[in-house]
Amino acid sequence: MKNETKSSRGPELIARKNRVVNRRTVLGAIGGGVVAAALGDRLWPLVSDSRAQTGPSSVDMSRFGGSTGARPGFGTLGDYVFLSPTKLGGGAHAQDLQSGKTMAWIEYWNYGDPCAIAHHIAAYPSADPRKGFEFINSTQGGANVLIYGLPTQIKERGLLDPVWGQGNRLYRVHYDGQQMNLIEDVAETTGVGLGVHTVIYPDATGFAAADGQKDVAAFFDRPPLPTLAKDDVALTEINKGQKTKVQMAFGADWIGRESTGSMEANWFNGGKLRLTRLVKARETGLYDLRGNKGNKIDWEMVPMAEYLVYTGQLPGDAPRKLCGLDAVVHHPGNRYSAMVIRMCSAAIILDRTTWEPVCCLHMPEGSPGNLPIRKVSSNPDTWEVEFDDIKCVGHEAGFSPDGNFFTMMNNIRQNNMPVFDTSDPDPRNWKKITFVKDPAWSGDYPSPFHLCFSMDRSKMFVSVLSPKPAKSAVVAVDTKTWKIIKKFENVGPDAQTMSVTYDGKYVLQIFSGFQRLESGVFVFTQDTLEPVGYLPNFGGHHDCVVVPTRTEHLLNSRCTTL
Ligand code: CU
Ligand code: CU
Repeated sequence: MKNETKSSRGPELIARKNRVVNRRTVLGAIGGGVVAAALGDRLWPLVSDSRAQTGPSSVDMSRFGGSTGARPGFGTLGDYVFLSPTKLGGGAHAQDLQSGKTMAWIEYWNYGDPCAIAHHIAAYPSADPRKGFEFINSTQGGANVLIYGLPTQIKERGLLDPVWGQGNRLYRVHYDGQQMNLIEDVAETTGVGLGVHTVIYPDATGFAAADGQKDVAAFFDRPPLPTLAKDDVALTEINKGQKTKVQMAFGADWIGRESTGSMEANWFNGGKLRLTRLVKARETGLYDLRGNKGNKIDWEMVPMAEYLVYTGQLPGDAPRKLCGLDAVVHHPGNRYSAMVIRMCSAAIILDRTTWEPVCCLHMPEGSPGNLPIRKVSSNPDTWEVEFDDIKCVGHEAGFSPDGNFFTMMNNIRQNNMPVFDTSDPDPRNWKKITFVKDPAWSGDYPSPFHLCFSMDRSKMFVSVLSPKPAKSAVVAVDTKTWKIIKKFENVGPDAQTMSVTYDGKYVLQIFSGFQRLESGVFVFTQDTLEPVGYLPNFGGHHDCVVVPTRTEHLLNSRCTTL
């Protein structure tokens, strides 16, 4: 396995107990400035060896009358359109689950984006997606292409600069019944460039997006579709019409009590989370947050890379101020949204009718569950949350479709999922009531990652990440007892989000291969939790969504959960 040429490109790694230590604290520039990879590719294989997942609970398709390559027949999964972004592939494609055809696709580099890392995706409902639907696809910052150990010259060749190579796009795309059309880069039209999670509002009137490198979350309206003049019209003439507007934008900063101490003390010994209302420039009407602008760290925190931040191994302009605001999820009641804070394992609850924060949920076991947020200034509007300490970092989150529960992933120092009762109309009364745990979730991996709920609300599905090249798992949790009732192990590498078919029948678990591995969709039944098989799916995904056909489907879509 030892390959001198290859290992000279990356940092040297040693595994100690469950902890992976990266000996190189700074990711140096080599030769012409190739930033060496510290994450993913280099880091994951080492922790994986001891965690190879085998055994009776592994997915074995031969038990269900098929070969290990068993595929659910197209047509059996219902009349749905399944949309997935292709991460490093740079686009998105829509698969017709009825016919098996790729209905349409788009590649963003065709439009002059030299480093389109198609990241998270959310689709607006459409009564007949075969006639048309609209979606939002974020792209990551361009430098993220450097972190997976690719021997790439993309930076040397100047493709990551200036702003059009820096990523953080919010592409608004419309499928018109025949082809996909790029109708707007919301980052360009608003000046707000965000590269991570995108979530549609429960009433489908807009969307929110966030970015954990900048610690910015923004809320956008949904303008009417432009009159599309297509291929016979000059590029400058197409897509005329009303553009997306920012309804509100917030920035967040971490101010550690021991901000000059060690990196770990900077977060874990407590401090203040500061939320600030961002304003646009009066003259241009734009925010100044496109591309790299505002980045505190040079690339995103991959799952569990909070560890790299708090050990000083993820460089950037202001890592100590990082709070990791990388996502928003919406409460089904359509009034409150949760802004997810990874470094604090917390979520600021925002009232979207007043655009004021209400309180802050704090996830770790042993920490207070609901913290007050206080306004400290009106120029600009600024609020603060005090944390006595931070016991662990956290990540993906979501509300149950009935709005009665909220959960988020506690990771690394703790590896569990707190469950909040969110049935009270006042979020200040939302309470941490229990934790989803698994004895297997110990140390850094395997760790709970993405979640979604069954249509009948009786189950929560959770992807459980193991480091590449080991295959990740997906588990089902009973939403009455919050106990794991089923595990599918060895599903595929880098298992990401799940989507449910809105008829209540199937769960589609995408596994990505975005690090050049196998990719596909593992399908199982929502009710009896039986494996159905694998759907072919090319591209190296990071997210997926079944296009909703009714607005209420959003409660089980990329709206309430990540
Ligand atoms: Cu992501
Ligand atoms: Cu995330």
